[in-house]
Amino acid sequence: MRKYFFLLLLAAGTAHATPFADGNPENGKKLIDKYDCNSCHKGKMGGDGSAIYTRPDRIVTGADVLIDRMEQCSGAVGKNLATQEKLDLAAYLNQTYYHFK
Ligand code: HEC
Repeated sequence: MRKYFFLLLLAAGTAHATPFADGNPENGKKLIDKYDCNSCHKGKMGGDGSAIYTRPDRIVTGADVLIDRMEQCSGAVGKNLATQEKLDLAAYLNQTYYHFK
């Protein structure tokens, strides 16, 4: 019985598309530079700023929160991200740092 339950979990796991499957991570990487995302993060974390995505007390704890946070960040500098740009950025950050499933 236990064995079948495991197989079921496995099947359910693979059936799930990764979050932000419609996003293009390569373009997301470029958008980080274009919007100078790490300019503020640098001031807070030092280095190139990317440590903000991996800090132990990071605030993004799920795929849904990631988009929210990016909207707050870009709003703070008066930039409006297009839906596709958000997906691209999220796909990049998720692939590189967060690894949400
Ligand atoms: C105006 C300054 C500023 C800009 C520009 C900015 N951020 Fe941020 N960002 C912050 C601050 C400050 C935090 C930390 C917030 C906290 O600790 O409550 C943060 C946190 C984040 C986090 C969460 C990190 C965690 O803890 O998991 C993500 C993701 C993020 N920013 C993405 C972006 C992206 C993508 C862009 C570019 C579109 C961007 N930010 C631009 C200031 C900025």
